[in-house]
Amino acid sequence: MEVKMLLLLTALEVGRAAGRHHGLSMPGSPSNISRNDATLQQVVLNAAHSFNNQSNDAFLFKPSAIHRAQRQVVKGIRYIVDFQISRTVCHKRDHIKDLSKCDLQPSGRLHQTFQCHLELWVIPWKHQSEILELLCKP
Ligand SMILES: *[C@@H]1O[C@H](CO)[C@@H](O)[C@H](O)[C@H]1NC(C)=O
Ligand SMILES: *[C@@H]1O[C@H](CO)[C@@H](O)[C@H](O)[C@H]1NC(C)=O
Repeated sequence: MEVKMLLLLTALEVGRAAGRHHGLSMPGSPSNISRNDATLQQVVLNAAHSFNNQSNDAFLFKPSAIHRAQRQVVKGIRYIVDFQISRTVCHKRDHIKDLSKCDLQPSGRLHQTFQCHLELWVIPWKHQSEILELLCKP
């Protein structure tokens, strides 16, 4: 009985030490990341490509701002991002792959922005990623 208690205590201590090791936040909880993070930029760009693939719009949209970005370690990395995409001047039918070549629509009839919420799960060591949620609203 005493031995079991001791083992339990030891396990708790190890858990706490592991928590400390990763900084102040508990392991597994989402934490803010920089909007300039290179992987985040790629994640948001991929989401815009997904949006374009699914939309019926005649024009391509591209990311125009990131409002909130979090990362959480759970059997891989989960990204939780609020961002916006805006309509560009590039026609979908032109099949342009590089969105950086597409300027945003000037203000006017065709100017439009969507607010998007994305949850993406990346398993780097398997080179896999899965969109858990991508919701874009005008
Ligand atoms: C575009 O969407 C279709 C189904 O809607 C899917 O089969 C295809 O893989 C998608 N292409 C890209 C580049 O995401
Ligand atoms: C995380 O970022 C959001 C949006 O930028 C901000 O409102 C929030 O205070 C940040 N949280 C922490 C713990 O820094």
